[in-house]
Amino acid sequence: MSAGALSQAAPAKINLALHVTGRRADGYHELESLVVFADLADELEAVPADTDSLAVSGPFAAMLGSGSSNLALRAAAAFRARWPELAPSGLALRLTKNLPVAAGIGGGSADAAATLRLMAGMAAEPVPVAELADLAAGLGSDVPACLLSRPLIARGVGEILSPLPEFPQLHIVLVNPQIPVVTAEVFRRLRRRDNAPLPALPAPLTRPAQLGLWLAETRNDLEPAAVELVPGIGTLIGTLSGFAGCMLARMSGSGATVFGLFGSGAQAHDAAHEIRRLHPDYWVGAAPLLGP
Ligand code: C5P
Repeated sequence: MSAGALSQAAPAKINLALHVTGRRADGYHELESLVVFADLADELEAVPADTDSLAVSGPFAAMLGSGSSNLALRAAAAFRARWPELAPSGLALRLTKNLPVAAGIGGGSADAAATLRLMAGMAAEPVPVAELADLAAGLGSDVPACLLSRPLIARGVGEILSPLPEFPQLHIVLVNPQIPVVTAEVFRRLRRRDNAPLPALPAPLTRPAQLGLWLAETRNDLEPAAVELVPGIGTLIGTLSGFAGCMLARMSGSGATVFGLFGSGAQAHDAAHEIRRLHPDYWVGAAPLLGP
């Protein structure tokens, strides 16, 4: 890290379950989702400067613009507009893009949330948490959840959050076939928008087996539409679910990233190793989930 820089990790978001329960008058979809985060992240560094700028490096830098439409820069501008007296006049942001883009695992939302956390951390006075969450919601549906980066249930269009007080220790394998998916296109293709809400979570939720039983009663309602766009998603789910110790294989968000959930880190690493061998052109990550 360069001298004087502050840094924040922007961890990958995974929707372990995602039900589409309705549609609002403005066209946005009402969702209920169990959201968790993996110890796999983009890295964001910031140094106060005269004006805002963004330099992007890392394996997925080429897929991303560094212009003002980048969500990290939009987050910086939104924070400054809301709290001009608490924000530096500019930020030199350096983003290491380790995670695939347009992949259903947060991406730009995680980067925007990390920017907001950095700016709140730099402020001379505490920033009201509820107002920061409101600002986050204005930047994108996943940004409020990414601001917390811990296991939670998200409702509404992602702005109503219930953090979970406990969660089993689990490991995740993420596989992306390197085909970007446009979220709006997946929502457009939905055939049903009035699915059942999530079942009630067991409380306390501490054992992997409890979560496994609950997950078996849930779905990702975006999966069929995403599989129409990228049929390889369905194949990957089949491959991942065949690995020893895989509790669940499913797509995250609007895809195309597919996850496998494991109780054991060794089994997760074995599965990741095998997928890398089978598909050298895919992006594969394996990591523990972040706890409450
Ligand atoms: O909020 P975000 O930028 O992630 O959403 C991308 C697009 O996905 C939206 O413009 C909208 O078309 C669709 N979407 C939706 N309902 C949601 C979230 C996203 O219809 N709850």
